[in-house]
Amino acid sequence: MKNRVLGVFLFICIFFYGRCDEGMWLLNLIGELNYNDMQKLGCKLTPDQIYSINKSSLKDAIFQLMNEVKGEYVGFCTAEAVSPNGLIFTNHHCGYDAIAKLSTVERDYLTEGFWAKNYSEELPVEGLYASRIVKIEDVTNRILEGIKNAVSEEEKKTLIKKAIEKIEKEAKENTHYEAKVKEFYAGNEYYLFVFEVFKDIRLVGAPPSSIGKFGGDTDNWMWPRHTGDFCVFRIYTAPDGKPAKYNKDNIPYKPLYYLPISLKGIKPNDFTMIIGFPGQTERYLTASGMTFKRDVFNPTLIKIIEKKLNIWKNFMNINNEIRIALASEYAALANAYKLWLGEVENLRKTDVIEKQREFDKQFVKWANSIEDKKYSTLVEDYSNLYKSMAKPITHLIYISVALLQGSSQVLKVQEFMHLKSLLNSKNVDKAELKKNIEELRVKVDDIFKEYYPQLDKEVFFEMLKMYYRNIPKEEQLKFLSTDLPKKYKGKTIENTIYLFVNNVFSKSIFTDKKRMLEFLNNPKAKILNNDPLIHFFEGIIGEYQFKIVPAYTSMNSKLEVLNKKYIEALRKFQPDRKFYPDANGTMRLTYGTVQPYKPKDAVYYNYITYLDGVIEKMDDSNPEFKVSSRLVELYNKKDFGRYAENNRLPVAFISDNDITGGNSGSPVINGNGELVGIAFDGNWDWLCSNYVYNKNLQRTINVDIRYVLWVIDKFANCSHIMNELKIIE
Ligand code: ARG
Repeated sequence: MKNRVLGVFLFICIFFYGRCDEGMWLLNLIGELNYNDMQKLGCKLTPDQIYSINKSSLKDAIFQLMNEVKGEYVGFCTAEAVSPNGLIFTNHHCGYDAIAKLSTVERDYLTEGFWAKNYSEELPVEGLYASRIVKIEDVTNRILEGIKNAVSEEEKKTLIKKAIEKIEKEAKENTHYEAKVKEFYAGNEYYLFVFEVFKDIRLVGAPPSSIGKFGGDTDNWMWPRHTGDFCVFRIYTAPDGKPAKYNKDNIPYKPLYYLPISLKGIKPNDFTMIIGFPGQTERYLTASGMTFKRDVFNPTLIKIIEKKLNIWKNFMNINNEIRIALASEYAALANAYKLWLGEVENLRKTDVIEKQREFDKQFVKWANSIEDKKYSTLVEDYSNLYKSMAKPITHLIYISVALLQGSSQVLKVQEFMHLKSLLNSKNVDKAELKKNIEELRVKVDDIFKEYYPQLDKEVFFEMLKMYYRNIPKEEQLKFLSTDLPKKYKGKTIENTIYLFVNNVFSKSIFTDKKRMLEFLNNPKAKILNNDPLIHFFEGIIGEYQFKIVPAYTSMNSKLEVLNKKYIEALRKFQPDRKFYPDANGTMRLTYGTVQPYKPKDAVYYNYITYLDGVIEKMDDSNPEFKVSSRLVELYNKKDFGRYAENNRLPVAFISDNDITGGNSGSPVINGNGELVGIAFDGNWDWLCSNYVYNKNLQRTINVDIRYVLWVIDKFANCSHIMNELKIIE
């Protein structure tokens, strides 16, 4: 009976919206917008139990993992509290950077895993933060009120910025909280987020990569999946319970709420909700926008990053130090690279763009039919703008990704620009000069950290070659089209690049630590004035900053204006549709059910995988598919304890929840509010999910919590961790 009701309900949803489990919803609005749907699917909690600002609720167990970049908090993953002592679960790939940082060739936690036996063995991770949302507030009226009379877009922007600063300042007053106002629906709404940032996060446990990253880049973004993608951290606070930076006297955090864990498992059609911090989606693109991604944006990045990854991989394969040092950045790049590939393939092979074109047509028809004609040219405006953006964006990507970030040393030149002007000024302030030199001396280690000259040289060479090949001469930066060829007159371009790169790596102070230290011992203007890498940097940065970037910024502003107008129009065009805002790194909830799927003709994918699949995929000759002998031993003994289901150990499962990057590590919660899994991936069969949701093909891949607990309990023997958890059998 229940199933039939569910069936009819789903049918109606599909019929009217085609997007029932679609949406990344704001938690403060679910009572109003989603709660009825959620209940029908099997949610037993009340909206108040999920999100409340007056008493502890589910949201208090969910954290955003962050780093601090130039004084700004940048979120990258999600984690959830699972014990009264501040223990949090997240993905192995979310902790990967931390684990890599703590690893050395001798203590290789990436490969071997790590398990602290007690509090004192837990390892502080510098620069890793976890933040908790205190409250979410709609501040749209306050912001838009102030721009009513603004005449230009410029003025609007300035007024909005001022209003935001004021609201944030007020929200922080007399508290230890942080506050951030974020734009939603392309600037049609604004919400204030007040949050608390914990700054002492320690690594408690991580499985070896043969579990946490099993299947590597081959299986990444794929189902069926057999990765135990989880790791464990603990939040610490000052003795008074407030956030504090690492201190040995800090104590484990007492969360306001933590998740009970269910060992009952999941089956198809079970309710699942995921709360986390999705980073970015673009769900309101026109067909021209999607075409732009497919034909311009993604292919450009794919081409550049593919080259870089190949060179890196070759060096990482033969050198352990390089492998560990570059592991985290490589994984992140490889992950994005495969996503971009999958997006292009999906946009090409499916009828997504065709369908959108149909929709755009209907939209235009409507826009022409209403009295106010202000939306009638929108679709065409988008199309024209995207066309005009193709070349400049391609060039911008080449300069920033291939030229400025190709070699790790190019941007480091900036550190020395002040010294260069000091040394070249007539009446130099001796004290200031001395101070600057001392400051630079301190930075030298950092400048050459994770710098491998041979690798760097090859990347630099190949990136330059790509630039010359792919950017038409008349568009190239003057330094590259004219200055450099002039210097190596009569040589072919290939030869020019070769000679120039050799010069950089044999002469520049930025490509050899000894040279840099010698220079700092006896700094002369002449050396900096003749440094070939400085020439390169100066040669491109001016034109880049004053021509290429402003051209991009102005196009982007036009795009922002169109986006705002388009969302405003869409809401009038489809007054009955429930709209959710694009992901923007703020806390969201997505609900759905556990679902198998059919990726293509004659193929059916089950909703769950088991440890048997790990053994099937096991391949000792392939580092991505190695399995530890301990795991094989436990498998052979069938030592699965209470974590098995019919004598088989579940590893991962899929649900039709709507997530994206940033959601990694998010809790998958059943109808009773218990943890049943940790979300960690999307699936290849619908990788264009950042643009369009698809109920039939899009799946969230989750590691089954029973596998997580089995690894902690049986594989790693960490009974002290198990004792902290609240387990529902
Ligand atoms: N695809 C996952 C995500 O975007 C990341 C998986 C990382 N693993 C890897 N093999 N690169 O969340």
